[in-house]
Amino acid sequence: MAPHGLTKLLKLSFYSLVVVMMVMTHQTQGFRLGPLWRKKSKNVVIDPTPIGICASSVLVHGYKCQEIDVVTQDGFILNMQRIPEGRDGNGGGDGIKRQPVLIQHGVLVDGMTWLLNSPEQNLPLILADKGFDVWIANTRGTRFSRRHTSLKPNEHAFWNWSWDELVLFDLPAFVDHVQQETGQKMHYVGHSLGTLIALGSFSEGLLVDKLKSAVFLSPIAYLSHMNTVIGALAAKAFVGEMTELLGFAEFNPKMKLVTQFLDALCASPGVDCYDLVSAFTGKNCCLNSSTVDLFLQNEPQSTATKNMVHLAQTVRDGVLAKFNYGTADYNMMHYGEASPPVYNLSNIPHDLPVFLSYGGQDALSDIRDVQRLLDSFRAHDVDKLSVQYVREYAHADFIMGVNAKDIVFNQVVSFFKHHT
Ligand SMILES: *[C@@H]1O[C@H](CO)[C@@H](O)[C@H](O)[C@H]1NC(C)=O
Ligand SMILES: *[C@@H]1O[C@H](CO)[C@@H](O)[C@H](O)[C@H]1NC(C)=O
Ligand SMILES: *[C@@H]1O[C@H](CO)[C@@H](O)[C@H](O)[C@H]1NC(C)=O
Repeated sequence: MAPHGLTKLLKLSFYSLVVVMMVMTHQTQGFRLGPLWRKKSKNVVIDPTPIGICASSVLVHGYKCQEIDVVTQDGFILNMQRIPEGRDGNGGGDGIKRQPVLIQHGVLVDGMTWLLNSPEQNLPLILADKGFDVWIANTRGTRFSRRHTSLKPNEHAFWNWSWDELVLFDLPAFVDHVQQETGQKMHYVGHSLGTLIALGSFSEGLLVDKLKSAVFLSPIAYLSHMNTVIGALAAKAFVGEMTELLGFAEFNPKMKLVTQFLDALCASPGVDCYDLVSAFTGKNCCLNSSTVDLFLQNEPQSTATKNMVHLAQTVRDGVLAKFNYGTADYNMMHYGEASPPVYNLSNIPHDLPVFLSYGGQDALSDIRDVQRLLDSFRAHDVDKLSVQYVREYAHADFIMGVNAKDIVFNQVVSFFKHHT
């Protein structure tokens, strides 16, 4: 690669660090990203035949689990796990049909993040024990969803997508399959990017007729206040430098260039990597260090560079819109309009039962941005909207907090039981 290209790639990498740090915050005082990252970087090559999520994280706890593949309209083969019932068949009433729940992870991670704590602390297993039929999604590009009917992950065309395509193709593939198999409407749980793609989808009137309710944990939509100057600068740099690689590359946060870039960054004068981490993620209050270790063995996962650029555009532009091709001409070509079409969240049907839980320490889902998101629910039916604010929680606490069951997941279960 030419030195020029390398510089660009390094700049691109910077934003990934930002996002990766968001998902890998750590409660330990004095936590430094450098050594942690080095630990991870030994294993750069993706294991071609990793053991599936059912085998590694569900069956071992005495639950049934099926590995399922679904194919999107644009040819991606996506992996799901189904946990049809509680441990040893528990949780069902006599003759009562279990209601399906679809669980959607965020960016740069996969469905396994829901299963890293001990079984009585994990949302999917809690739901199964409470009588739900649980389906875990893994979006395109993540470890078990790196397959396509005609493309290979080493081809550029395989990575030619952003979260618009998750809205258009991945989410419908998951939802349609669950509906087909169960014959029922389902509940939805999303975390982080898993909330954004659902909000985008519902605002376009998609999928809502197939849902009973939706839960948004650590919701992201608007990202203007994504804390800190560095975050904003990084996003700007990312958008500015993107053209050369746009849409034509896998974004693998484990790649060596990112590691090297990070080491260099942490070694530069005036940069304190500890501060950098808390600045970007917010301080998660309640993570278990064994769980964090397990997290680091399994994540982060790849996404498309184009997806990262799209997220950076959202930070920069302060609007929730489709991918911006950068010039009026290109946008015209793709959308028939000079600017990318906006996702208007006020159009989310007002009678959809929604439960939204957000944290006071969450730097990615900043409370000012959540407030703006809530503004678009102003006309929502009052009895269909529940909002929970957890003062001490940051981004990862909502999936992996040791007390998330008591604080959040039990509320989710009650909410689902209320909106059957
Ligand atoms: C932390 O995780 C370990 C391993 O799963 C578990 O044994 C321990 O009980 C957990 N601690 C808490 C506070 O949940
Ligand atoms: C990427 O996708 C866009 C449409 O979404 C298409 O116009 C473009 O030709 C694609 N590029 C490649 C390299 O596949
Ligand atoms: C969004 O939709 C609402 C009504 O559904 C409308 O009043 C508002 O002007 C729209 N906003 C944008 C930015 O188009």
